[in-house]
Amino acid sequence: MENIRKDKAVIENIGKILLDTERPLKERFRSLFTLRNIGGKLAIKCIEDCFADSSALLKHECAYCLGQMQDPLAVPKLESVLQDITQESIVRHEAAEALAAIGNIKSLPLLKKYINDPCVEVAETCQLAVQKMEESETNEIECSQNPFHSIDPAVPLPKASYDSINHLENILLDQSQPLYRRYQAMFSLRNMNSKESAIAIAKGLTCGGALFKHEIAYVLGQMQNDATVKQLSQVLFDESEHEMVRHECAEALGAIATEECMEILNRYIKDEKRVVRESCEVALDMCDYENSKEFQYANALIKAV
Ligand SMILES: [Fe+2]
Ligand SMILES: [Fe+2]
Repeated sequence: MENIRKDKAVIENIGKILLDTERPLKERFRSLFTLRNIGGKLAIKCIEDCFADSSALLKHECAYCLGQMQDPLAVPKLESVLQDITQESIVRHEAAEALAAIGNIKSLPLLKKYINDPCVEVAETCQLAVQKMEESETNEIECSQNPFHSIDPAVPLPKASYDSINHLENILLDQSQPLYRRYQAMFSLRNMNSKESAIAIAKGLTCGGALFKHEIAYVLGQMQNDATVKQLSQVLFDESEHEMVRHECAEALGAIATEECMEILNRYIKDEKRVVRESCEVALDMCDYENSKEFQYANALIKAV
C-alpha cells in the first residue's frame, strides 16, 4: 500500500514537470517519455492534461505517446482532440494517428467523419487510419518485422510482392499510387534498415504532400543513418517548406546526432516558426542523449518497467 502511494506521488511529480511551463521544453519532453514508459491510468491522465498547453510540438508528442502506449483509456481524449478545431493541425493529425495505433474499432466512425477535413494533413491521416483499421479487421496482417518496435500508420508490403529496393523505391515515389501503398513501401524499406534503403527513402523528401514527407523524415530519424543528413538538412533549410516537415527533419537530425547535425540544429534554434525552433531545441537534447553514456532517463526506465 505504502509503495502504491509512493508510486502515485512519483508519477504525479513527473506529471507536474510535464505541465510546468516554466521548465525548459527538453525537461518536459523527458518527463513525457518517462510517463509513456510507466504507463497506466495516472500517467495517461498526466499526459492528457497537457493538451491545454500552448506548444503544438509538445501536444503532438503527447498524442504520439498516447498512441504508442496503445491503452484504450486514452481514446476519449484523443477523439476530443481530433474534433477540436482550435487545436493545431499537427496535433489533430497525431491524435488521429494515435487512434489508429490503439486500433479500437469504435473510433472508426469518427475517423471516417474526418477523411475530408479541410486540413489536408488531417484528412489524409484519417484516410490512412481508416484503411489500416479496416485492413486489420478483415485480413490476417503478415506479422511485421519491425526492428524499431513502433506502431506505424501502415503495415509493410507482403515480402512476396516486391523483389528489390528499386522496386519499393518506385512505388514510394510514384505519386499516382495510393498514399497507403506508398506508406507500405516506405515501411518495407525502413525494415530493411540498410544504407541503401535509407537513401531510397530519403528521395521521398522531394515528392509528395506534407504528410508524406513528414513521415519520410520520421522514418529516417528511426533509422539514424548518417547517409541521409544532407537530404534532411536541405528540407530544414527550406523556409518555404511546411513546418510539420521541417520539424520532423530537425528531430531526425537530432536522432542521427552527428556533430554536423548538432551544428545544423544550432543554426535553426531561433527559427521564425515556433514548432521548428522548439524541435531544434528538443533535437539537440536528443543528440546529447544519443551521445551520452548515461542514458539516464529512458534506458533506466525501460529496464525498470
Ligand atoms: Fe506525425
Ligand atoms: Fe512529429
